[in-house]
Amino acid sequence: MAALVAIGRVNPVLAAGNYIPELTKSSFGDNFHWGVATSAYQIEGASDVDGKGESVWDRFTSRGHIKDKSDGKIANDFYYRYESDLKLLKELNFKNFRFSLSWPRILPEGTGTINEKGVDYYNRMIDECLRLGIEPWAVLYHWDLPQKLEEKGGWTNREVVDWFAEYADLCTRRFGDRVKHWMVLNEPAGFTTLGYLSGTHAPQRTGIGKYLAAVHHACLCQAEGGRIIRRNVEKSHIGTTFSCSHTEPYKPIGSHQRAAKRLDVVLNRLFIEPTLGMGYPIQDLPFLKKIEKHMLPGDEQKLPFEFDFIGLQNYFRVIAKPSLIPVIWANRVKPDSTAEITEMGWEVDPEGMYDILKQFSKYPVKEIIITENGAAFPDRLVDGRVHDPQRINFYKRYLQQILKAKQEGVNVQGYFAWTFIDNFEWAEGYRPRFGLVYNDFDTQERIVKDSGYWFRDFLK
Ligand code: GAL
Repeated sequence: MAALVAIGRVNPVLAAGNYIPELTKSSFGDNFHWGVATSAYQIEGASDVDGKGESVWDRFTSRGHIKDKSDGKIANDFYYRYESDLKLLKELNFKNFRFSLSWPRILPEGTGTINEKGVDYYNRMIDECLRLGIEPWAVLYHWDLPQKLEEKGGWTNREVVDWFAEYADLCTRRFGDRVKHWMVLNEPAGFTTLGYLSGTHAPQRTGIGKYLAAVHHACLCQAEGGRIIRRNVEKSHIGTTFSCSHTEPYKPIGSHQRAAKRLDVVLNRLFIEPTLGMGYPIQDLPFLKKIEKHMLPGDEQKLPFEFDFIGLQNYFRVIAKPSLIPVIWANRVKPDSTAEITEMGWEVDPEGMYDILKQFSKYPVKEIIITENGAAFPDRLVDGRVHDPQRINFYKRYLQQILKAKQEGVNVQGYFAWTFIDNFEWAEGYRPRFGLVYNDFDTQERIVKDSGYWFRDFLK
């Protein structure tokens, strides 16, 4: 989630009793899934070829809302370059590739007519993964809603549950013979808050009513999507992904603790608890009661689904103190000058990864997979190389904390780095580079960064 930041920790690693395990691939176990994560709009390009329909991100970018005025028309050109890119992924020793299916590429109008050329593209790409011995992990929805559906209200319209069911049914029927790992949604907290509350992302809508409607419909789709995958795909491994940030009070006093609790509800609990049959966490954040306005009789029974795994996506922690501004986000505290921050202004905080894993492991979930984690730093291409020691250091420290949690019994079974190749970073455009591979956006030349080589050697 692009907009939240926190303050620095004081020498966390040096604090007494802070055990840090030695990092080796074997200590994660033989069946641990190592992969990279990507998403359709951020890498594919080919935004209006072969019958693809317009998405909310095509529309949003065309209005000049992106910081560098860019768009995803070409992005990584992955639509045309997937063969050489997947070959490179294999050379870096990753065995798992997480990608998303673009809803408007498959159903240009959102429902109805199928774009067979779009389906063909995914068939070819999936077949190429399997040919190379790379396991495909598909996400049904990573933020690129068909614009035609947005014009009918998008996620605020209850009909999205039927639209999504049609789309999920189609994808699982067409690809489920070969794709066994599925995720329903990417970060519902991300697209509902940024897209329908703050309006900083597509489709740029604002207001608490729209937000709560979108939240409830996303929760219904999350469970319904799970049921559809279960029905259509034999031997499936089904998950969904949640953005999460360990949330702490600025000071150990009541008002700060209450502020932290409120943020924790919105950031970490709102989407997983209904899935687990716990309902919405209204008691800890009473304004959520308004969500009931969007609920129909029988909805409570439709919200739960037993996922095989939950995907956690963690980038930073959040520090909270109360604010006079009646907006929940105003309770966060920005990083101070001592904090180590990334190009996104996010605090590097590996211990927050450990804390959030511990927090989620208290839920009755079968398995946790880190489906995104990574960092943008100001990379420079010098004499054909990109030296990015900060990123290597970031990955080592986050992986150590994951291993520590795993050794203490948290059932983490996989790790997907965000991301493979520098790509389109939503409202930030192309400036933040998150890749293990550098992309020259003028020539589409891929240059493996030192961090990419680090993973290659680590995963040998
Ligand atoms: C996540 C999102 C990704 C990527 C990443 C880095 O919230 O799912 O698409 O942009 O953040 O900012």
